[in-house]
Amino acid sequence: MCGIVGVLGEHEAAPILVDALKRLEYRGYDSAGIATVNNGHLSRRRAVGKLVNLSDLLVHDPLPGKAGIGHTRWATHGAPSVINAHPHQAGQVAVVHNGIIENFRELRAELAAKGIHFATETDTETVALMAQFYMEQGDDPVAAAYKTLARLNGAFALAFLFEGQDDLLVAARKGSPLAVGHGEGEMYVGSDAIALAPMTDRITYLEEGDFAVITRNSLEIRDANGELANREMRTIHMDDARIDKGGHKHFMAKEIAEQPMVIGEAVRHYLSADGNSVELPEDFDFAGIDRLTMVACGTAFYACLTAKYWFEQLAQLPVEVDIASEFRYREPPIAPRTVALFVSQSGETADTLAALRYCDGKADKILSVVNVPESSIARESDLALPILAGVEVGVASTKAFTCQLTVLLMLALKAAEQRGTLTADEIADKLSALRAVPATLNTALEQEGAIAAAARKLSEASDVLFLGRGLMYPLALEGALKLKEISYIHAEAYASGELKHGPIALIDKTMPVVVMAPYDALYGKTVSNMQEVLARGGKVVLITDAAGAAETEDSAWQTIVMPEIDPVLTPVLYAVPAQLLAYHTAVAKGTDVDQPRNLAKSVTVE
Ligand code: AGP
Repeated sequence: MCGIVGVLGEHEAAPILVDALKRLEYRGYDSAGIATVNNGHLSRRRAVGKLVNLSDLLVHDPLPGKAGIGHTRWATHGAPSVINAHPHQAGQVAVVHNGIIENFRELRAELAAKGIHFATETDTETVALMAQFYMEQGDDPVAAAYKTLARLNGAFALAFLFEGQDDLLVAARKGSPLAVGHGEGEMYVGSDAIALAPMTDRITYLEEGDFAVITRNSLEIRDANGELANREMRTIHMDDARIDKGGHKHFMAKEIAEQPMVIGEAVRHYLSADGNSVELPEDFDFAGIDRLTMVACGTAFYACLTAKYWFEQLAQLPVEVDIASEFRYREPPIAPRTVALFVSQSGETADTLAALRYCDGKADKILSVVNVPESSIARESDLALPILAGVEVGVASTKAFTCQLTVLLMLALKAAEQRGTLTADEIADKLSALRAVPATLNTALEQEGAIAAAARKLSEASDVLFLGRGLMYPLALEGALKLKEISYIHAEAYASGELKHGPIALIDKTMPVVVMAPYDALYGKTVSNMQEVLARGGKVVLITDAAGAAETEDSAWQTIVMPEIDPVLTPVLYAVPAQLLAYHTAVAKGTDVDQPRNLAKSVTVE
């Protein structure tokens, strides 16, 4: 989960590299560094912590040169420190790396046996030393890089820069994404198109095993078999406006506020012209399948858990849901007439991609629901459904989650139509309610003050419990994840009915309990659980609607009232108070909302 960038430019590389790294900070921010070649001389500047520390260093100790590489790090091997920061250099070779070299200890031992010494604990230094070793054996830079890559096992995106070569970049991709940008007499390489957006919208995505030799006026790509490969150059329409905070204090706040807009776009994208049915970009028939297997990680996994209820209740389609990192190693049998569906905001999550590849050739069809249409998961699916959330910069997923839910619900309604489990009128009614969601979300956002007040209370807790039933159970899980990942308060979620099977032992006056309970068929059961909490001195933050609030008569510590909505749509709506509760708790605690410690936005390593 690091970000890498490279430039062969007509201007000083350092500011271009730093600006590109700013756009990649969401991938990791433990340290940052750049290297350039200036008049043939290769040198580096590196700093621990946020990118601003590198920028400050460059003010006092500039780094000239029009060819360079840069890196922002999420530590995998070796603590966050200057010495472990990329670029790593060995003699004439500098390299930046995203991923994990799984056989780096074996290669270190091989190099050590040749008397080669290491300065760091990182797997990446091994790559630089191996390439330097081959150059000392007489190989030219390209051959040295090529031979080095052939020795590496694991997942990586790499960019090399060489002493004496101010018009050469070598890049390679195996398991981690890498894009080449085409400028006017300039060329770039980056972990994704976002990094390169200010320089170019003309992008060539490297594919698995590709090896690229780049000069200012040429790009030669060889595939995993060493054959010349012709990869498509695409024009990527990156809406720059969406890569700033739009006047909000944090990207997360902006992205929470964008939800009515982007959900509306997602709904319109999949609606038929008359608004009464769902249209998919390509024919796909749920009537012909017996089972849906859904696989994802983190928040995307909770979107799948929610969708399980929808597919089973609306379309009578049995659904299995798995965490990708478990699924891929359990190697489950895939029965005939099974469709595998992968949900991923980034479309690059290593575990989810590996799970997809496990299903390839086993499942009847591979579907994906992604926010990046040109991502690896999208490109390796038979049918990739975009969620149209726009660029999501905040590490904690918000608008992507509700857009995933929106698309998954529309998919479930499509399945209900094809399997004949809902009438056309019933489907039209649900879609009519879905079209009204943006307005309902705007009403929910008006509750931000009450939510912030509850958050200030939560911010003093060291542990928080979330409870929900039915469709609110995955939402309770998501609410707990949001809270812990940005406020660092320990939080966990339980199905309300499970409280009495153990977790109730946790309840005392120091343990706030967030109960998510719209006034639906399960409300009474959940309120009984809430009473069990209150009877033991627990403090309840109740998230409900007007009817629910009336029934509990202010017995809760804090009540957050949501607008009424069709029960099937409550997950999309109740995500908003869960997000805002986490956001304002984190703000009250002063944590880094957009770039929480230890995290990164796209987990492209196992
Ligand atoms: C969400 O708030 C988290 N940052 C994280 O759990 C995320 O959902 C997970 O890593 C999956 O990412 P993806 O959707 O890009 O695959």
